[in-house]
Order: sequence, then structure tokens, then C-alpha cells
Amino acid sequence: MAVDLLLGLQWGDEGKGKIVDVLTKNYNIIARFQGGPNAGHTLVFNGKKHVLHTIPSGIFHDDAINLVGNGVVIDPVIFKGELDKLAEQGIDYKKSLLISRKAHIILPTHRLLDAASEASKGKAKIGSTLKGIGPTYMDKTGRNGLRVGDLELSDWKKRYRTLADKHESMIDFYNVELEYDLGELEDEFFKAVEMLKSLTFIDSEEYVYQAQKSEKTILAEGAQGSLLDIDFGTYPFVTSSNTTAAGACTGLGVAPNQIGEVFGIFKAYTTRVGSGPFPTELFDEDGETMGRVGNEFGATTGRRRRCGWLDLVALKYACQVNGVTQLNMMKGDVLSGFKTLKVCTAYKYKGEVIEHLPYNIEPENIEPIYTEVNGWEADLTKMTDESQFPKELNEYIEFLEKELEIPITIVSVGPDRNQTIFRK
Ligand code: GDP
Ligand code: IMO
Ligand code: MG
Repeated sequence: MAVDLLLGLQWGDEGKGKIVDVLTKNYNIIARFQGGPNAGHTLVFNGKKHVLHTIPSGIFHDDAINLVGNGVVIDPVIFKGELDKLAEQGIDYKKSLLISRKAHIILPTHRLLDAASEASKGKAKIGSTLKGIGPTYMDKTGRNGLRVGDLELSDWKKRYRTLADKHESMIDFYNVELEYDLGELEDEFFKAVEMLKSLTFIDSEEYVYQAQKSEKTILAEGAQGSLLDIDFGTYPFVTSSNTTAAGACTGLGVAPNQIGEVFGIFKAYTTRVGSGPFPTELFDEDGETMGRVGNEFGATTGRRRRCGWLDLVALKYACQVNGVTQLNMMKGDVLSGFKTLKVCTAYKYKGEVIEHLPYNIEPENIEPIYTEVNGWEADLTKMTDESQFPKELNEYIEFLEKELEIPITIVSVGPDRNQTIFRK
């Protein structure tokens, strides 16, 4: 059975957690394949909001297995925090949560290195979530990392010490002011590792292979978004993993010819949190309205998200890189009340009109070219069927489908699990 993917097509926070939760009823296994606690995936049901960082968004469904794949980086302290919250809600995660032995571990010193690196960059900082993501992936590719499977070895603490000591001298190298008490951070870390060790560690690529062979359905849940991809995103203002479809192959051990549906998820407008270019960003009342109505604050850091119009040039690029087969449009409800909506359909790039994403989209090179469409007045949040959609929303959807040449199969009209409309 092929593995389906759900991926963010913008700069993250598209609503992946919500849709994975909605789709989980169709799958046996939900698997994260990259990223780590830099992610914040929000689920809302029964009047309650839940935010997950490392744990897959299928965890609230009794009969789904949730796998943290080899491509993920795990901070035991944050992971323990997530588990404690699940336990408070009576979720029996021990039977449904599996962790790849090949997933890498975020050490307290990785977090400190992240902070030191950002501080040393000054104005040029990435705007990292400071969860230690970059330094941990650097140790992975540098072949120095500590993996989940290492925790089963008798000398893992020695390995830990060697790496942490090296990190301390690297922190000194940055020569920035950083106050920390490593002893305290390590106490918390070692406690959390003990909790992590009470979970089931597996050889996940073998598990995934056998699951596919026995016709189990698998949905791979992306974190971040395509424009934050280490190769295809707005480098260097990106994260340190491949957030695009190929990342699911390397992050789970799925062969490329075993990928089935690719759900590409996007907001009806655009947001970005952290630094980096954003051609359609708004600095006016319209942007302020999107932020306020859409409650655009980061689920991990609480930072205000930058807002702007939908960028079809960037969206097309993301669809291409991922091989998207179905689109999910989120947060259309936030646009109710705008008289006209703008959609960027081309860029003026160094004086020339182009329709593809060039190497450099820094503001000095790019001017977005907009197509204007009519907005809608109606409140969408109570709608339960597409037959209730205002004419202008249907026109907006059809315009995007025509431009992107991919069907929009899900339209989300609010944060709740039930505010999800499947289009026929
Ligand atoms: P993720 O990282 O892709 O899972 O997305 P986040 O959870 O970081 O951010 C999405 C935010 O939008 C969350 O607060 C969701 O509860 C909320 N949300 C998701 N879908 C909708 C929608 O259709 N309408 C509105 N108004 N909010 C939504
Ligand atoms: P989800 O899965 C939005 C951004 C950060 C920063 C850059 C690098 O919730 O969509 P990092 O901590 O990875 O070194 O940060 O990437 N970023 C996200 N933005 N959603 C996320 O995840 C993000 N994860 C990282 O703000 O600009
Ligand atoms: Mg998020």
C-alpha cells in the first residue's frame, strides 16, 4: 500500500495538524518524518485546543499508530512535556506511540548553540525557534549525533558527555553573552530521557515496510512548509531539514515509487514567522486584519506571524517540487469581509515579468504583480457543505484550481475538526 503525504506549501502553520487529525480516521499509521519541536501543530475538537510539537497529530485517535520517524529530531524535555499533557487527558500513548531508533536527539547544548549562533548573527538572524534544530541536524550530517537507539547502549552517557563538552567549547567560540546553568538543564534532560526510554523504540524503516506489505494505510505528516525546505526554501532563512515530499522518503525509509496521494495544504492568504523574504507581505490595515481575525501567532513561540496576500508563484513552485495531487485550502473564513482579494500571479524580477520562483526573492529584486478578484461577505464558519459557499468563494477556489491545475478537495472554514468541508 502506498504512503500518502500531507505537506505545508508555504512557510509553515498552514493547518497541517488540523487536517491530519481530520484524515486520521482513514489511516492506520500517522508518521512524522522531519523537523522536531520547532513545529507547533494545533488541533481543536470538543471545544478544546491541543498543540503538538513532536508527536504526530493522529495521537487523539484510539486506533491509530503514531510513529516518530528517523528524520525527526527529538528533544526529550519537550517530548516529556507533550506526553505529560496527553496523560492528563487520559490518552494511553504507550500503546500507540512508536519511535525510530534512528531519530536524532536534541541535547540541551544544541539549544544553547542555536541561541549563540542567532545572537552572533545580530540583524541577520534566521529567526529560529531556538529549539536546537539547526545544531542537531548539523551534528547528524557531521556524523557526531546521538540517536534514540544509542540510549539502549550502556555507554550512552559517555557519548553524551563527549558531545556536550565539544558543544561547550563551540559556544565559547561564538563569544556572545549567554547565561545558562548546564547542570540544571542536564538534570531535566536526564529525567526526560528516562521517560523517553519507557516508550517503544523500533527499527522504523522495517516497520514501515512491513506495514505497507500488509496493506496498512499510512499518512506521513510534514512539519514546517516547502518554502522553509533546506534546499528549495528561501535559504538561508529556512529550517534544517527537507520539508518537501522527498523528505518523507529519507525520513521514513519509504521508496519514491511507494508514494501515493500528496495533500498540499495552504492558507487562503500567506503567513511567515521569523526572518526572510516575503514578496506579498502587507504592512497595512489588510495585513493587520488577517493577523487579528486569523489569530496569527506562532503555536510554538507565540511570535506574531507576518501576513500577506496569496502568492501563486511560490505556491505553484511548491506544488511542482512536491508533486501535489490534492490541495487543501485553509482559513478562507479569515478573508470574509474583504471587498477585493489580491493574488500574486507573477513577479516583476529585475525589470522582467516572470512566473517562476527565481534564485533570489529579496525585496530589492521582486515586485509582486497582482490579479484582483471579488471577496465575499458571508461568515463561512458555520457552513457544513460547499453548496452554502458564496459565489465569490467558489470563484476564488476555481481561479486557484485553474492556475495550479490541481483540485482543491478540502476547504477549512474554522479551527475546529468539524469545520472542514470536503468538495465533491
Ligand atoms: P500547522 O503548524 O500547519 O499545524 O498550523 P498551526 O497549528 O501552527 O497554525 C494554524 C492555526 O490556524 C491554528 O491556530 C489552527 O487552530 C488555525 N486554523 C486551522 N484551520 C483553520 C481555519 O480554516 N480557519 C481558522 N480561522 N483557523 C484555522
Ligand atoms: P510548523 O510545523 C512556521 C521557521 C522559524 C524560522 C525558521 C528556522 O508548525 O508549520 P528553526 O527553529 O527550524 O531553526 O527555524 O523556520 N519555522 C517555522 N515557521 N511553522 C513551523 O513549523 C516552523 N518551524 C520553523 O520561524 O524562521
Ligand atoms: Mg505550526
